[in-house]
Parts: sequence; C-alpha cells; structure tokens
Amino acid sequence: MKWVFATGNKHKVQEIRPLLPAGMELLSLRDIGCDEDLPETGSTIAANSLEKAVYVREKYGYPCFAEDSGLVVPAIDGEPGVYSARYAGTGDAGDNIIKLLARMRGVDDRRAYFVTVFTLAGDGSLEQFEGRADGEITLIPAGEGGFGYDPVFRPKGHDRTFAEMLPDEKREISHRSKAFAQLLIRLKSFENSNKL
Ligand code: IMP
Repeated sequence: MKWVFATGNKHKVQEIRPLLPAGMELLSLRDIGCDEDLPETGSTIAANSLEKAVYVREKYGYPCFAEDSGLVVPAIDGEPGVYSARYAGTGDAGDNIIKLLARMRGVDDRRAYFVTVFTLAGDGSLEQFEGRADGEITLIPAGEGGFGYDPVFRPKGHDRTFAEMLPDEKREISHRSKAFAQLLIRLKSFENSNKL
C-alpha cells in the first residue's frame, strides 16, 4: 500500500522510511508532484496537522499522514504553541529562544511541554495520534545539539536540556517518537488487513 507523508521536510521522510512495515511504500510530496506550501491556518497544532493531511488526501487522492509539532508553555497562555516555528517573526531558532526567555522573565511557573500530532487520512478514515514530552523552560540556554527550543527545554526527571542529550537519548523520550509509535501501530494494522 502507498502512503504519502505530507511534509516538506525531506529529513523527516528519510527518518521514517526505514521504520515502516515491509510492503508499505512511502511517498514524499515531491513524489506526487506537490511542490506547494501546505495550508496551516488552524489555531491549534492538532488543527494544522489535520488540515495538511486532509488537503493532500482531497487534492492528490492519496492516503496520507501529516504531522505538526510545537512547544506549549501554559503560564504564558500556551505560547509559542502553533507559532513555535515563527514566534519571533524571523524564522530563526535563536531569535525564538530570546523572545521566549524575555516573555518568561519573572514567571515562576516554567512548566512546558512539546507536543506532536500525527493525522492519518486513510481511505475513508481520519485519526489523530498525540505524543507529549513534559518538562520546563530553563533560565538560560544550554547545549549544542538538537534544534528549535531544545537548548531551553529540560525534560521532566532529567538534569540536562534536550540540546545536551545525544540524539538517541532525546529520541527515547521525545514527543515525536511517542506520537510516531502510535501511528506505526495503526499503519501496521492497515498493512496487515490489506494482505488478507
Ligand atoms: P514541526 O511541526 O515539527 O516542523 O515543528 C514546528 C516548530 O516547533 C519547530 O520549528 C520548532 O520551533 C518547534 N519544535 C518542534 N519539535 C521540537 C523539538 O523536538 N525540539 C525543539 N523544537 C521543536
């Protein structure tokens, strides 16, 4: 069975491809001739994930899945949330961190979580899978690894930020891995029922 992973990020496609069940073919947006920016007009991470998956299924006619992720800090009204990638308006991760730390000056409750929502838009089915990593925002950035807000996010039960962890260590506990594990179970069940 062929599935499209509706992301413009080719690294995400490459990361996921080897993990899929045998017999399942994963296509990128480029493979199906889609080079447009997918719509992301929702006010939540889950809504944007849904919008992208439904758009590709409807317009291109392939069963597909999409994902959307972000950082949520409840004490500052859920910011940066759906604006995580473009929080500071420059698209630069360092600028986003500077804005977040400035916004949190004097805020005692530094609890935060990363969330990923995958939406699976199969033939006639629509399902979402959420993964969450809880932690807190540090006072200053630490670490060189990872990307985005990793230098200021310390996961619960750990004394280092995501950026101070090895990639495998982060993967074990990350929001994206948790959401993907659920998606994978569902994709495998599709693949098995297809063989019957
Ligand atoms: P995306 O939907 O996976 O592209 O994530 C959107 C934005 O959320 C990214 O540009 C980052 O700013 C932030 N983000 C998502 N996941 C992570 C993570 O694992 N570490 C740090 N930042 C993240």
